[in-house]
Amino acid sequence: MSAPEGRRGWPAPVLLRSYDRPAGLDNPRAPRRRTGMPNFEKHAWMFMRLSGIVLVFLALGHLFMMLMWQNGVYRIDFNYVAVRWHSPFWQTWDLLLLWLAQLHGANGMRTIIADYARKDWTRFWLTRLLAVSTIFTIVLGTYVLLTFNPNIS
Ligand code: HEM
Repeated sequence: MSAPEGRRGWPAPVLLRSYDRPAGLDNPRAPRRRTGMPNFEKHAWMFMRLSGIVLVFLALGHLFMMLMWQNGVYRIDFNYVAVRWHSPFWQTWDLLLLWLAQLHGANGMRTIIADYARKDWTRFWLTRLLAVSTIFTIVLGTYVLLTFNPNIS
């Protein structure tokens, strides 16, 4: 397929052959490279749908509890956090929210990076950076949630 006059970068550069997602428009039946886990993209897509459903309750419930319920945001202080995280129910809620929002958001960002990165190099390093920041936030958040001790001396 040749680019129409005056339209540089057409077809879209994200569809280059070196990056096999989706197959190049000019050769749709080209054999796909088999790399990584089989069906990873399908499971990642299903995870987005399922975690989305759970996040509706977790994230909206969280916002409602924090911003509207009782005195809303005005009642939040160190004591409030200490009492809240003393309860296994809220610990579990926040832990689930942390993990699901991080994994859902990170996988969504991975898709966006794959859509927009024009070079393999850019996509590779942005995805690595995203993975490092996601793991860092999940590990740190989980650590704080499970070990929070209100008795600071
Ligand atoms: C409130 C409940 C939520 C629902 C129902 C929901 C649902 C979805 C769905 C269905 C997709 C598209 C998946 C696909 O077909 O590829 C998606 C994408 C995405 N979500 Fe969520 N989500 C929610 C919350 C969140 C949160 C809290 C974050 C951030 C931490 C987030 C970040 C993203 C991102 C970055 C994408 C990718 C967008 C794209 O591909 O252009 N979502 N979400």
